[in-house]
This record gives sequence, C-alpha cells and structure tokens, in this order.
Amino acid sequence: MQDESAEDFPYRTEYKKKSIRSYVIRAGRMTEGQRRAFDTYWGGYGLSLFDGPLDPRAAFGREAPLVLEIGFGMGDSLLAMAEAEPDKNFIGIEVHPPGVGRLINNAGKAGVKNLRVYMADAVDVLNDCIADASLDRFQLYFPDPWHKKKHHKRRIVQPEFVRLLCTKLKPGGLMHLATDWENYAEHMLEVLEAEEQLENTAGAGNYSGRPPFRPETKFERRGQRLGHGVRDLLYRRR
Ligand SMILES: C[S@@+](CC[C@H](N)C(=O)[O-])C[C@H]1O[C@@H](n2cnc3c(N)ncnc32)[C@H](O)[C@@H]1O
Repeated sequence: MQDESAEDFPYRTEYKKKSIRSYVIRAGRMTEGQRRAFDTYWGGYGLSLFDGPLDPRAAFGREAPLVLEIGFGMGDSLLAMAEAEPDKNFIGIEVHPPGVGRLINNAGKAGVKNLRVYMADAVDVLNDCIADASLDRFQLYFPDPWHKKKHHKRRIVQPEFVRLLCTKLKPGGLMHLATDWENYAEHMLEVLEAEEQLENTAGAGNYSGRPPFRPETKFERRGQRLGHGVRDLLYRRR
C-alpha cells in the first residue's frame, strides 16, 4: 500500500478551480494494484478532458449506443453493466483515484473493451467533451447527498445540471438517477418533474423501482445497512 496525495495525482485532468464542487478530493489510500493499474491500463481506458470534444467512434473503434455514468465510485457496478451489455459503449467519470484504479484494473484483467474513463469533474467533461444529443442513457447512482442544509448547494442535481444533461441525451434517451436519501430523492423528483424536456417513465410524480439492468452499488448497500429506502428515478428525454 502506498499513500497518494490525491491532489497531485497526475492522471486527473482538471482546469477550473470552482467555488462550489459536488465532491471533495479525498487523499485516498491506493493499493499497489490500483496504482500499478494506471501504468498498465490507463493508456487503453483513460480519456483526457484536455483533448476536448470526444469522437466516440475513434475512442471505442466502433459505433454503438452510448451510456455515460457520473460518479462510479469504486466502479464494480459500472463494470458489471459494461460486461452485461457488450453491445453498448460505456463512459465513466470519477474524480476519486483509487476507484478509477480499481475499475481499470478489473476491466483490464477481464479484457473489457466497451468502457472508457475520465478522471475529471463531470460538469467540465459534459461541457467540453460530450457532443449534444449523443447519449442513449445517462446514469447517476447514489451521488453525495450533502445532507446538511447549508451544503445543499453542493448537490450535483440542480436544474442547470439537469438541463445540461438533457442537451447531451438523444431524444428518447434515458436519464436514470438513484439515491438512498429521502430528502435528496424529493429534491431530484422536484427538479426532474420541473424540466419540460423530460417525461417520467413511471408517471408524473412517481419513483421507479430498481430496473433489472442496474446492479446494486456499494453505496446503495451501505445505505441499506443504515435502514435507508432506495428510490430510482427514470425519465426519458422527449
Ligand atoms: C457517494 S459516491 C457513490 C459511488 C457509486 N455510484 C456507488 O453508488 O457506490 C459518489 C461519487 O461521485 C463522485 N463525484 C461527485 N461529484 C463528481 C463530479 N462532479 N465529477 C466526477 N465524480 C464526482 C465522488 O468522487 C464519489 O466517488
């Protein structure tokens, strides 16, 4: 094991210092395997914010429906989804180096070809790298709840963020959110219902159950251990 100063971690691409962030960079402890994974697999899986607009055909070497996930954490559920749907291309965005290391290590060992990863702020990636109307599915599972009221402004789900996501989704594309924080779920529901480009697949004002294509995630299991209920929200871009 080795300590990494996450702030100095060289693979993360970051160019804007922001006053309000939806995350805190934790000085995470990397396992030797996660650290080595960057040398071995980043060249194959890593994408850079600094490269600007992404050409998915060039990045994946094929055209296929595109799924984008923000905040994959340690990445196990994203990897399971990429393996379960080999006909789709998956892009994951995460700022936490140990999680990125774990995901590319496991993906590399399993020979997974339909996955690419940004280690950058997702809002920068959406703005600068992802073409409008290019995503077939967007997923955000168990985002940091920022449960204290004075921190609610740091929640990633805000009207402006959802509007940005809508521009990136294809018409008919799916927006999938999940959380175990009741108060955040209510906030998500309010924001998504107010966005006129979106239609709730469960009927206006309703939550969805967990669809079969979403595996349980690490933070979901933690929430369940704490006795939290889980709510999925599934919308389509009109
Ligand atoms: C509570 S964890 C959930 C992880 C995973 N989805 C799960 O359910 O186990 C939220 C993750 O989102 C990441 N995150 C938060 N804001 C982000 C942003 N703007 N860009 C990229 N990742 C972000 C954090 O680093 C953290 O790993």
